[in-house]
Amino acid sequence: MTKQKLVILISGRGSNMQALINACATPDFPADVVAVISNKVDAGGLTIAESHGITTAVCSHKDFANKTEFETALTDIIHSHKPDIVCLAGFMRVLGPTYFERIAVPTLNIHPSLLPKHKGLHTHEAVLDAGDTEHGCTVHIVTELLDDGEFIVQKSIPVMADDTVDSLAARLLVEEHKAYPEAIIAMAAKHH
Ligand code: GRF
Repeated sequence: MTKQKLVILISGRGSNMQALINACATPDFPADVVAVISNKVDAGGLTIAESHGITTAVCSHKDFANKTEFETALTDIIHSHKPDIVCLAGFMRVLGPTYFERIAVPTLNIHPSLLPKHKGLHTHEAVLDAGDTEHGCTVHIVTELLDDGEFIVQKSIPVMADDTVDSLAARLLVEEHKAYPEAIIAMAAKHH
């Protein structure tokens, strides 16, 4: 089995990144994490990645004059690791034309809603405000349209009468951590 090489992009605590690292450590999982890149120097996920001996890099959008220069630098770092798949895992920058012109491999994202419902931020609030009886997460291919692109895996949870933003987020996170590894298995199957 040729393993899919993953580069993971983060901005924060990195629990989905951790779930992917754990999955890659299990026998027969069809992928390896080759690098973790953060746009934030203080992202907690960087320390976790380093504790697993994974190469990390910081590419801060603040160090560049504009989005084109940032995305050129970011894709240069990504390409240096020769990934088969880029995984956005709590990466909080919206990627633009320069990224998509240059990247040449599929980019996945995990979004905390049952897309196409509730694109953008604050999805748990949106679910409660809408009175939805079901919530969920979606791993999808990233395109230039925000929270759009082919769905690879979706997982749902019921919304309980006493749910809050925090309780929904916590219960959904458990499903997110299963969904991302499943999506990698699905992508690896497509490539063979
Ligand atoms: C997750 O809820 C994910 O769905 C969203 O951002 C959050 C990242 O959390 N895109 P973590 O950094 O993976 O813990």
